[in-house]
Amino acid sequence: MCGIVGYAGPRPTARPDASNGGEAVAVVLEGLRRLEYRGYDSAGVAVVVESEGRPESSLGSSDQVSDQVSEQGTHELRVAKRAGRLARLEEALEAEPVPDAGAAIGHTRWATHGGPTDANAHPHTSADGRLAVIHNGIIENYAVLKAELLEQGVPFTSQTDTEVVAHLLGRAMDGSSGGPVDLASAMRQVCRELEGAFTLLAVHVDAPGTVVGARRNSPLVVGLGEGANYLGSDVAAFIGRTRRALELGQDQVVTITASSVEVTDFDGAAVTPRAFTVDWDAAAAEKGGYQWFMDKEIHEQPKAVADTLLGRTDASGALILDELRMDTAVLRRTDKIIVIACGTSAYAGHVAKYAVEHWCRIPVEVELASEFRYRDPVLTERTLVVAISQSGESMDVVMAVRHAREQGAKVLAICNTQGSTIPREADAALYTHAGPEVAVASTKAFLAQITACYLLGLYLAQLRGNMFADEVRGVLRQLHQMPEAVQTVLDRTEDVRKLARELADAKSVLFLGRHVGFPVALEGALKLKELAYLHAEGFAAGELKHGPIALVEDGQPVFVIVPSPDSRDSLHAKVVSNAQEVRARGARTIVIAEDGDDAVLGSADVVIRVPRVPTLMAPLVTVVPLQVFAMEVASAKGLDVDQPRNLAKSVTVE
Ligand code: F6R
Repeated sequence: MCGIVGYAGPRPTARPDASNGGEAVAVVLEGLRRLEYRGYDSAGVAVVVESEGRPESSLGSSDQVSDQVSEQGTHELRVAKRAGRLARLEEALEAEPVPDAGAAIGHTRWATHGGPTDANAHPHTSADGRLAVIHNGIIENYAVLKAELLEQGVPFTSQTDTEVVAHLLGRAMDGSSGGPVDLASAMRQVCRELEGAFTLLAVHVDAPGTVVGARRNSPLVVGLGEGANYLGSDVAAFIGRTRRALELGQDQVVTITASSVEVTDFDGAAVTPRAFTVDWDAAAAEKGGYQWFMDKEIHEQPKAVADTLLGRTDASGALILDELRMDTAVLRRTDKIIVIACGTSAYAGHVAKYAVEHWCRIPVEVELASEFRYRDPVLTERTLVVAISQSGESMDVVMAVRHAREQGAKVLAICNTQGSTIPREADAALYTHAGPEVAVASTKAFLAQITACYLLGLYLAQLRGNMFADEVRGVLRQLHQMPEAVQTVLDRTEDVRKLARELADAKSVLFLGRHVGFPVALEGALKLKELAYLHAEGFAAGELKHGPIALVEDGQPVFVIVPSPDSRDSLHAKVVSNAQEVRARGARTIVIAEDGDDAVLGSADVVIRVPRVPTLMAPLVTVVPLQVFAMEVASAKGLDVDQPRNLAKSVTVE
């Protein structure tokens, strides 16, 4: 969802010659560029600058523009915001630089309350124009608060829930809701009134050089620099400046200046946040010569798998997961696993179900996190809930984790993002090491999640005596061969790219798979929907004849993910028959099959080859052509591959 950046650095000693809006705005824009994947409906910045009289700025003259200047004492607030991509804001600031400042806040929005307009873009200001605030999340009681403020004659200029916070903070600061207070106290006071999910950052003309932030149910991390400090929705906001960070807990308020960071709870009690060092650097968050982040991330998949395996075996090749910090007695007595996740992460859980049930003989349910707590799930202290999330912030998963823990279940998070909410709230965490995933469509995180789930499954199997150490070592060896296998698929994508250009005008594409191929089919369809905006559906191949086969007509493209001929229970033969069934009804079949599997030739119009790997490892290779296909179709249609319409990378609302 929305991206948030805050910066407090050296106070400007001179008025700007500012070709680029001054250091503070430059730092914030740099952070917003890295966070734009979180939301890209509109963007804005606010700075508190030294007052020099109202400049002859034309920034506020256009009716498309809602820039404001407020003069108060020796400082004044400058706000610039635009609907649309960040580039529109950057153009405006290029044309009309704002002076340098000791502090700035910036926001990139994914609209919830109120459409993406200039007026609804953040920052929002208090009625007296002395305070600006940005927000990620949803204020659930905003309607009640707004009605009260309207009754008191406070004017509103937007349809957002956030504007309520700007007015409440403004009133707390000017003393209309009690004695005058400092910005951090005002923030604590207001946060106690708010319900819902929020990360808030505020600046005020009375506190130049200071940014105050707060969080509840929504992410906020602190970056510790040399002579400057930073705030961000995630570490990408400041990774170009520092890798030293602090993790904020639930219901905390942080105040940063160039030289200090203070954290309290909502009642003002001091808190010591957990420090960590980000394990990737700014280069990892750049495109590195690729046209799209997604293409780069697809190509990083061998490394994502390898890095997720790294350090998790000892010299003898035995699995060690002591980092889990979960009582082994708890894991031994587990009698049911419930995976909770959304979207692609849920499909990773789906893949893992086949492996974990096979290895551990524990029933595994996979549940969409958004449905989980509404169905009154049966949870006991012997239930292990595995929450899978790339971002560690998906609100549906956060709420499901809380529900599971309230019901007495133990929660283990599989997550890609340090300092995020889900691993912090879980009883234990296993990190994937895919590095930052910037493209909205998830790719390398999916492979890393499957890898991490497999490690967990093997660990459980070893611990509970379901598998001998040698068997576990054998599967680990297979896993260690996967980066090379994935690389082989990546080296062969030319035919898939060509096929994508041919099929770019298709109206609908179907995907079929069985066993672990089924979630891969679902993932292939999801990728195509979200990137290319075309109808796509994934089906369990055996289910087609129970209804969906009626969809098949002449020329209908159908991808069929064929398992290895070595699979058990005639799985291979059954999927080949399913391909024949649709082809007999006019479908154009695109078959993904292992090298050397000639049995598919009679049922395939196109064959995409993947290297021969054990059945449970197959998803790590078969999904890759589907990712490339979706990316290329979107690209051929002239769409923005990295930032598809209506989506955001990290969905921090329910
Ligand atoms: C699809 C995609 C989404 C995410 C889902 C969960 O390409 O990226 O479906 O997988 O929103 O996100 P996380 O894993 O961050 O909880």
